[in-house]
Amino acid sequence: MNMFDINDIAMDIEDRIRKDEKKKFSARVLKEAYEAQNIGRIEDPDGCASITGPCGDTMEFSIKVKDSRISDIRFMTDGCGSSIACGSATTKMALGRTLETALNISDIDILNELGGLPEENRHCAKLAADTLRKAFRNYQEKGR
Ligand code: FES
Repeated sequence: MNMFDINDIAMDIEDRIRKDEKKKFSARVLKEAYEAQNIGRIEDPDGCASITGPCGDTMEFSIKVKDSRISDIRFMTDGCGSSIACGSATTKMALGRTLETALNISDIDILNELGGLPEENRHCAKLAADTLRKAFRNYQEKGR
């Protein structure tokens, strides 16, 4: 490698970061973080909620409900890569489910779906599960 080629240096750094990530996170976590689905905010949602976790990161879910099923769901977060992975995985797990079964999605379910998270990131799954439940409560309060 040419030591003065900034592009090569940048690629080398990125390569090393990716290798470190692979040691720490499952392939599924990295996929959900780098290719996150259902990011955004639904206009005129049937239910919406956000929670700021103890780490200071915020998660938000907005949902649409049709025939007692989640017909659309989006998430936003200003958090870390694992919170993005948790948000993305949670939307995929909840989409199309009945409200009753979606309500039962727990942080353990999200962790299992992602193939686990390092101890210091496990709260990201709880933040996602808690926020989803709060969005359901908001839906119920609206009485749509
Ligand atoms: Fe707090 Fe990821 S949501 S560190």
